[in-house]
Amino acid sequence: MTRPEQDDVTVTACPDGPLLVRGPARLVDGDGQEIERNRATVALCRCGGTAIPPWCDGTHKVNGYRSGDPA
Ligand code: FES
Repeated sequence: MTRPEQDDVTVTACPDGPLLVRGPARLVDGDGQEIERNRATVALCRCGGTAIPPWCDGTHKVNGYRSGDPA
């Protein structure tokens, strides 16, 4: 495994949880508008249950979200 460079972007699918985005990725909404981020690492909801989209608020832990087999 190689070490990530400072400008590398990594997206990690957390089992039964959010997508963690590390690095200087540009996030935009469906209209192409910039989504401001104030952290180097952000968690994007993929369960659909968050109250603060697009961010994960931990709701996946109580709504029974299962990410399934990554294959
Ligand atoms: S993945 Fe965490 S609230 Fe949806």
